[in-house]
Amino acid sequence: MKFFVDTAEISEIRELAATGLVDGVTTNPSLIAKSGRKFLDVVAEICSVVPGPVSAEVVSNDFDTMLKEGKKLAAIAKNIAVKVPLTVDGLKTCKALADAGTMVNVTLCFSPAQAILAAKAGAAFVSPFVGRLDDIGMSGMQLIADICQIYRQYPGFRTEVLVASIRGPMHVVDSAKLGAHVATMPPSVLKQLFGHPLTDKGLAQFNADWKKTGQSLL
Ligand code: G3P
Repeated sequence: MKFFVDTAEISEIRELAATGLVDGVTTNPSLIAKSGRKFLDVVAEICSVVPGPVSAEVVSNDFDTMLKEGKKLAAIAKNIAVKVPLTVDGLKTCKALADAGTMVNVTLCFSPAQAILAAKAGAAFVSPFVGRLDDIGMSGMQLIADICQIYRQYPGFRTEVLVASIRGPMHVVDSAKLGAHVATMPPSVLKQLFGHPLTDKGLAQFNADWKKTGQSLL
């Protein structure tokens, strides 16, 4: 499973990229606004820090303008994935960009039908938002299960399931059990994945027992 970090905060991206466990980054207009930085500058810096796919989202809603914006974003770096919304114009833009060889991440996916359209449009990634479905009492994980089941029926589909709107470690674990390709998560959730109280307890005991030996390894 690939782990992407869902943020535009460059300091957090640098910190987590240093672990060697970050396979890409996703941003969206809200995360860019939160960063307080110029869109093209922060995306270019992220692309220089993380070699994997970096999603940068168009900000218009009509095909002609989205296509122009998508081409501008794709020109930033070779690892840019242009993000487009799951709308008619967004999928038209996806098809045009994908046919030209651009990596596209189709976002704001909330149904299996939408995910089929994203695959037909040649998306590199589809981003189903699990947390926002859970937030309204629906099952985000059921959507992931449905999409993974459908995609498995069509080996010709090249679209990877990029689980987004992740609220905690169990979204990551349950998505992995279903065979989703990517989980994109806030830095806080990625950090949560490492922790377990028995690991801390066991390491403390190893450290204490080693200290008693009076030895050093180096
Ligand atoms: O990449 C999509 C993600 O940022 C949405 O997450 O928490 O706003 O639902 P959230």
